[in-house]
Amino acid sequence: MDGPNDPNALQAVNSQSSLSELDDSDLARLLDRPRLNIERKRSFDERSFSELGLYDNVYSPGGRSGWDTPASSARNSFEPHPMVADAWEALRRSLVYFRGQPVGTIAAYDHASEEVLNYDQVFVRDFVPSALAFLMNGEPDIVKNFLIKTLHIQGWEKRIDRFKLGEGAMPASFKVLHDPNRKTDTVIADFGESAIGRVAPVDSGFWWIILLRAYTKSTGDLSLAETPECQKGMRLILSLCLSEGFDTFPTLLCADGCCMIDRRMGVYGYPIEIQALFFMALRAALSMLKHDTEGNEFMERIVKRLHALSFHMRSYFWLDFQQLNDIYRYKTEEYSHTAVNKFNVIPDSIPDWLFDFMPLRGGYFIGNVSPARMDFRWFALGNCVAILSSLATPEQSAAIMDLIEARWEELVGEMPLKICYPAIESHAWRIVTGCDPKNTRWSYHNGGSWPVLLWLLTAACIKTGRPQIARKAIELAETRLLKDGWPEYYDGKVGRFIGKQARKFQTWSIAGYLVAKMMLEDPSHLGMISLEEDKQMKPVIKRSSSWTC
Ligand code: GLC
Repeated sequence: MDGPNDPNALQAVNSQSSLSELDDSDLARLLDRPRLNIERKRSFDERSFSELGLYDNVYSPGGRSGWDTPASSARNSFEPHPMVADAWEALRRSLVYFRGQPVGTIAAYDHASEEVLNYDQVFVRDFVPSALAFLMNGEPDIVKNFLIKTLHIQGWEKRIDRFKLGEGAMPASFKVLHDPNRKTDTVIADFGESAIGRVAPVDSGFWWIILLRAYTKSTGDLSLAETPECQKGMRLILSLCLSEGFDTFPTLLCADGCCMIDRRMGVYGYPIEIQALFFMALRAALSMLKHDTEGNEFMERIVKRLHALSFHMRSYFWLDFQQLNDIYRYKTEEYSHTAVNKFNVIPDSIPDWLFDFMPLRGGYFIGNVSPARMDFRWFALGNCVAILSSLATPEQSAAIMDLIEARWEELVGEMPLKICYPAIESHAWRIVTGCDPKNTRWSYHNGGSWPVLLWLLTAACIKTGRPQIARKAIELAETRLLKDGWPEYYDGKVGRFIGKQARKFQTWSIAGYLVAKMMLEDPSHLGMISLEEDKQMKPVIKRSSSWTC
């Protein structure tokens, strides 16, 4: 028996949940233990889960854990892989300097590619894995320089044609122009006014706040976050996303292409990637805002928004077998507060693939929820960030990992990790992407496989106590990444082909691999990028969660 009445099933989940449920006092107690050879300054939640003995508690869904990872390879994976040295060399080659100081990394260092486009720029989102790699390696200065440089750029007046952008907008990317004759360096930046499709990067500001916390956590240096400039930068970003409007939902309304998926892919509305980053940035800001008059006012708004946002996401974006079955049987056209089908989703809009894809055990946050529209596609970044930020409850986090294990072929295949699943094709591709030749089925954003996502998968695996999944994914990447020249993405149903228009020496593919390796080796690094569950936010889950199936 494997259902709600099976006490073993519940116990298994509870022991798993305890990983993220350890509260401050539990961890503080564990901290009393003598330290093992740890040089860097660390706060309690940065401590190694393996040190805390939590790996012993790994939950085996349906007896599949520990699955075909040969013991020998698991043991050897902590030894430096020959690829690691190459990766560091390539990462250092991508450094960008401003007046002699490193301020970021270029998106791709691909000499063979005829068209540079904007891949010679420092992208805010792309720099995050580079920054984490440098922090984990004890080199925080470049991260500090980057945070200050982008904060400075945020202060510029931003216009698209005759329209002035919000003060808090952070750039998608910037470029340093060197003038060898005059010996000057100048910076140009793109807030969407040059980007293909003129998309504003909603994610940049969130990543900036998340990175500021990572820097603070990793170095113990509070002085940067506490400067009036950083406090103001955070407040400006927060003003943009906490402003009142006509919204009926606590989620953030966005245009298509406003995040990692930066061209038309039908993610407009309330994309999971942005909602998860929004949630994480709000929590990160809450921990860094000063308790002065302005700071207090923002904290109050953040707390209210977090409360509503977590309830909304955990209730309406969550999908598992039980929930799918409920939607399948929905009545429509219900009016009033008592409506079950609140968004008037028509059951016929459930795509056929989903009935086969949804395992009995497992679940995920779907791509988008708005009136009469549920985008049932699975998106990697949003689901991993939901785990890391504790937007997902411990049960939901475990269920997301269950789904990845159960649908390994579809989501990981031969190269981790699918950016979204499934691809859209034919008529739907024409309508949704606007016939985008770069986003054909199973390529690029449309079901392509992105090595950069390996670091997010690894972090999620460590947080949920399933490092063996990450180990297996990293081993897959190691069979090809270096040999193929660190491509930006892979194409095909299982990610077998180097992407049609993929850049080589894509920096975040390189940095993502290094971060994944370093985190697995020393799981205490996770604390930089992970937030423990806030118990006060715990909702009453009326719905099934996957373990009740
Ligand atoms: C592509 C990706 C985007 C990334 C940029 C630079 O446009 O879609 O997410 O930031 O390349 O690598």
